[in-house]
Parts: sequence; C-alpha cells; structure tokens
Amino acid sequence: MTRAEIMVTPEEMEKQEQYTELIRSLPHKPRSYYVVTYGCQMNAHDSEKIAGMLDHMGMDAAAVREEADFVIFNTCCVRENAERRALGNVTWLKEVRKKKPDMIIAVCGCMIQEPGMAERILKQYRFVDLAFGTSNLHKLPELLYETLNSREQCVRVEEADLIAEGLPVHRLRQDAAYLTIMYGCDNFCSYCIVPYVRGRERSRDVSAILREAEELAQNGVKEIMLLGQNVNSYGKGLPGSPTFASLLKQLDGIGIPRIRFMTSHPKDLNDELIEVMANGRHILPQFHLPVQSGNDEILKKMNRHYTRDQYLGRVKKLREAIPDIGLSTDIIVSFPGETEEQFQDTMSLVREVRYDSAFTFIYSPRTGTKAAEMKGMIPDEVSTERIQRLIALQENLQQETLKRFIGMQEEVLVEGLSRRSKLAVSGKGKHAVSVTMEGTENDIGRILSCRITDVKNNTLMGERV
Ligand code: SAH
Ligand code: SF4
Ligand code: F3S
Repeated sequence: MTRAEIMVTPEEMEKQEQYTELIRSLPHKPRSYYVVTYGCQMNAHDSEKIAGMLDHMGMDAAAVREEADFVIFNTCCVRENAERRALGNVTWLKEVRKKKPDMIIAVCGCMIQEPGMAERILKQYRFVDLAFGTSNLHKLPELLYETLNSREQCVRVEEADLIAEGLPVHRLRQDAAYLTIMYGCDNFCSYCIVPYVRGRERSRDVSAILREAEELAQNGVKEIMLLGQNVNSYGKGLPGSPTFASLLKQLDGIGIPRIRFMTSHPKDLNDELIEVMANGRHILPQFHLPVQSGNDEILKKMNRHYTRDQYLGRVKKLREAIPDIGLSTDIIVSFPGETEEQFQDTMSLVREVRYDSAFTFIYSPRTGTKAAEMKGMIPDEVSTERIQRLIALQENLQQETLKRFIGMQEEVLVEGLSRRSKLAVSGKGKHAVSVTMEGTENDIGRILSCRITDVKNNTLMGERV
C-alpha cells in the first residue's frame, strides 16, 4: 500500500466531524459514557481516543458503567482468557440494562477484528447495539449516529491498515502520556494473533510524532511512553526510512523529562539504538525485551528470528552501555511440543539474565495462527505446574536483583497514594521499578528524588532527599 492509501483522508475526518455535530444536536443522544478497556497499552490509548471523541460529541464520562447511557467494551483477544473475560462482562451488562433500557452497548477492539467475530456478534450477541474493529475507530461518530437512528444492530469491520491523525484524546493522566509511533505488526510470531487483528506494520510521520510530543511538553507532561507492537522497526515505508533510534534522539531533544517505549523485538535491537539510549538525556534506563523462550528450537518454531545466544548477547551489550538498566520480559510456557528440557532452558535463561520483572503466560492457541495447527498441545496440569515453577523462580531472583538499587538515588514520578499506607506514595522510578516513599496527595504527578533503602514484596522503599 502507498502512503496515501494508508492515511485516513482529511475529507473523511471532516465527514466524521459533521456526524459529531449531528449527534451533539440530537435530543435523544446518550448523555454519559463509560469505556471498559482490556489488553495492552495500545488499547488503553485507543480508549483515550474513544473518550476524546465522545467528549467532543458533548457527552460526559460516567463514574460507573451501570449508570452510563453508552458503554463501550474495548476488547483484547491475545489469549483465550482475555476474550472470555470480555464476553462475560458484556453479557453481564445485558442484565444490568434490563433496569436501564435506553443503555447502548458497543463492543470494539481487537476481538472484533477476528475472522468470524462480526457474524458471531450478529447471531449470538443480538443485544450488542454497535460493534466495530480497530480499523473503524475514527468512524465512531458515523457509526454511533447510525445506531441512534436505527433499530438494527450496527456491525462494521474492515481491514485494519489505516492511520488516522488528529483524533481528539481524553488523557487519563495529566503527567504521563501515551504517544503511538507505529501501528500493526509484520512479525507473525507463530503463536500471535496481533498481526491479524491490528493489520500491517505502518509508521506515523516523524513530523506528526514530533508535533504531538511538543504539544505534550507544552502541556507540562513529564513522561511520554512511545507505543508500537515493535517500536524498533519504526520507519519502514516512510520517506528517507528514518530509524527508531533517530526518532528517539529527536524526541530526546524536546526536553520532556522522561521518555520510555514499548515493545521492542530482540531481532531489531541494534547498536545504534543502544548508543542513542546510552547518550540520551531523558531516555529512561529501562528496556522491555520479550524473550518468549530460552530454547533455540522453540524460538524457531515461534518464528522469533533470534537464538538464545543472540538474545543474551543483546542483553550483555545493553548492560555494558547502560549499567543498572531495568530489564523486563514476556515469557510463554508450554508452546506446542515444549519438552521439560526445553522448558528448563527458559528457566536457566531467567537465572542468567536476572530480570527486574517478567510477565509469564501459558500458551493459548489462537485460531488462524500457525502454532494453532502444530501438534503437541501440553496438558493443562503440566502447564500450570511449569508456570508456577517459573513464577516462583522469578520472584526469588527478583528479590535479589532489586537489591542492587539499595543505596542508590532514584527519581520517581508519583502515580498515587500507596495502597498500604495513607502517608506514603508510590510510582515508577527511572528503571521502571515501583518505589514507595513518604508523601501525600499533593505529590501525585510530581517527580521526587529519593534514596533506596530496602526491597519489600518486589517494591523498592525510598527515603526522600
Ligand atoms: N508486540 C509485543 C507484545 C504482544 S502481546 C511483543 O512482540 O513483545 C504481549 C505478550 O503476550 C507477548 O509478548 C507474548 O508473551 C504473549 N502472547 C502473545 N500471544 C500469545 C498466545 N497465543 N499465548 C500466550 N501468550 C501469548
Ligand atoms: Fe505478536 Fe510477535 Fe508482533 Fe509481538 S512481534 S505483536 S508477539 S507477532
Ligand atoms: Fe490485546 Fe490487541 Fe493489545 S489483542 S494485547 S489489545 S494489540
């Protein structure tokens, strides 16, 4: 596809603005909305765009979903349980609506882009008023207008290969903001459904990204999180083929105090990026580097394009360039055919790397992916036992690994009051590890300096300086 074909046209955006106007003047328009979000940061940010569009239509955010006139479920389908939870909650709301018959229920997000899901909504979930895919997000005004003016279910899905610029955003936090730099994924890891539901990889223009970052800086945002399924392959298909490292360098020059990004694919983590990170002023010393497995044969079957040794080599380089870097990962256990020895390779890799945190998942077959057709499904009891061993190992190591911060100074962006004490606040340090320290409500949204004194339950304890 050419660049022009990927971009939603200004005419289309103008058309949506007209629908927004129309809804604003409808006497029976919903007055309040509630967005329920599942899945990753991408979805969380999409929900901020949905809320932004609804604000723009003159609606207010409701405090709880039961009281909202319009409830939107922004779904995830990366694993079966994510999908089951979303559908369960949608069905529960059907009961709630019996007491509030004018409530409008919408379902959107990745799950709707799954093959066959649109038909399933039409047949099995008749009570859903509106369903649209990730590709139709910018068309929400038009689709909602249609829903409000007809008694029919409105279900709309297209190929998810577009970029819409200029959507209004209702940001959930004022101090930290998501900034999408690329959409979709071309990696086709054999277990993963994301490339099917989020479409082909496409990058936003450098100028659009810089403009948004500058605006955020002017609004006093202290931290930006750059988003993409594979941020370090940023730039493919753009004029001049800019690299992620070059983009990061330019963003670093804007002066926003903290810059983070996720997610990175180990195969695309090059020296240029490590150098830019090491020399950056505002790029945080942290890296989320999903490994998935520690065994070469499994990595090959996963279509990950790196070996255990190559991965470990990248980690070594990162640590040489940025000592104390905060490292986290994603791991899948019980990929089809995984033997106990192969699982042990994952355990030994975790021992070798010593991550600050790890997200662990039991493999979940997704219809349409290559792995779903592979033989050798691991029985549930074995998978549960494996993931428990892995979690226990990681927790033990983590307790030790985090001790390296004791005595160090850390800068913390305070997110809220600590759950354990009224006189304490917590937030993320530069290394992406949670820190708790003395503080009050007034500190929320500020960056505080502290000295790390202890590690408790995988959280660092700090003393303000
Ligand atoms: N683009 C990111 C993350 C995608 S989804 C990346 O490449 O790292 C987040 C995590 O979910 C993945 O890293 C993987 O560990 C997990 N995951 C994806 N598909 C899965 C599946 N079918 N079963 C279990 N875990 C899965
Ligand atoms: Fe899925 Fe792999 Fe793409 Fe990540 S890189 S979204 S795991 S296909
Ligand atoms: Fe889920 Fe879609 Fe993210 S499937 S993990 S919400 S890209």
